[in-house]
Amino acid sequence: MGTTAVNMRNLSSASLLRVTRLGYSSQQRFLLLKNTTGFIKHAFAATRIRASSTLLAETKADFVLDDDKKFDCCKNTLACPICYKPLIYNCDSSLSADSPTQPILRCRNCRKAYSGNDTHLDLTINSGSNGNGEALPASTEIFRFPLMSFIYERGYRQVFSIFGFSGPEKEFELMKDYLNPVLGGNIVDASCGSGMFSRLFAKSGLFSHVIALDFSEAMLQQCSEFIEQEEHFPKGKIILVRADISRLPFASGTVDAVHAGAALHCWPSPSVAVAEISRVLRPGGLFVATTYIVDGPFSCIPLLQPLRQKFAQVSGSHVFLSNKELEDLCAACGLVDFKVTRNRMFVMISATKPK
Ligand SMILES: C[S@@+](CC[C@H](N)C(=O)[O-])C[C@H]1O[C@@H](n2cnc3c(N)ncnc32)[C@H](O)[C@@H]1O
Repeated sequence: MGTTAVNMRNLSSASLLRVTRLGYSSQQRFLLLKNTTGFIKHAFAATRIRASSTLLAETKADFVLDDDKKFDCCKNTLACPICYKPLIYNCDSSLSADSPTQPILRCRNCRKAYSGNDTHLDLTINSGSNGNGEALPASTEIFRFPLMSFIYERGYRQVFSIFGFSGPEKEFELMKDYLNPVLGGNIVDASCGSGMFSRLFAKSGLFSHVIALDFSEAMLQQCSEFIEQEEHFPKGKIILVRADISRLPFASGTVDAVHAGAALHCWPSPSVAVAEISRVLRPGGLFVATTYIVDGPFSCIPLLQPLRQKFAQVSGSHVFLSNKELEDLCAACGLVDFKVTRNRMFVMISATKPK
């Protein structure tokens, strides 16, 4: 046991007669507190904990979760990205954007702990560590810059209209036909960015729950700010999760629908990502995605194949050269009933996990 100084303001110190257990780091940002009458566990975002008084508390490197306290929403869906076994949730409040406290999750199997901050749960493999400076390709890393998340819905996404993207509302309308068989279920908005579709999904009331997922902390932060700015937003319907598309933190066969808007081409390996999506979809579950295709007049560009390989090496971004490539990608990952809608270079595809 060691000793750690913890600054607190919002803490109700009257109820905290004895702090017996505490886990804290600049990344994990949480406390587990126990009072004399029984376990009361609280989690805090460090950003909310500002100094006015200082409490000295005994610390332990580890902490214990009550196995009977599980997260209610998504409890069968969220899983450890290392071993895909269920996570145990130890917070009394429900796991959603309006939770007053921050959740703490732990893998029942490999015992790894996952923490949240005041905007999202971090369910990446490197959650709680510094990741040893490991960087993903540029097409992933570029979206982690706060400037990128700031400009994304303030002009950047609108530029996609050049390729034939009609904008979130119209794209959502188009998507509804595809989503028909899974309405009422849960939906993962994979690579949600600043959450333009996640927010539409939540507000539409068409899904039981929305998991807004992205690798970029900045994008999730921006998504959270947009949610906060909206009056009467159904916060209880949405959770924000940081995860890598190549290692989805969901149990196999537990997701009704996965949406990926303008993201397939950004993923480090589209085939690994779609295989992961296929793994988490339940039988009959649906994958719907938009991307762009370089074909038609572009097919005349000499050496298009090797050019895209070079482009992928430099940017990490994948260029699709035909509808057929997307169909083959889905089929290779065990998805069937491929459908496609085109508008110039824009393409919306859907495919289903066989029943
Ligand atoms: C062009 S944005 C799409 C945002 C939004 N879905 C839309 O329709 O506009 C691509 C998103 O993919 C995310 N992304 C890139 N690589 C990722 C990865 N390895 N895992 C999860 N998300 C990733 C980026 O952070 C970014 O938010």
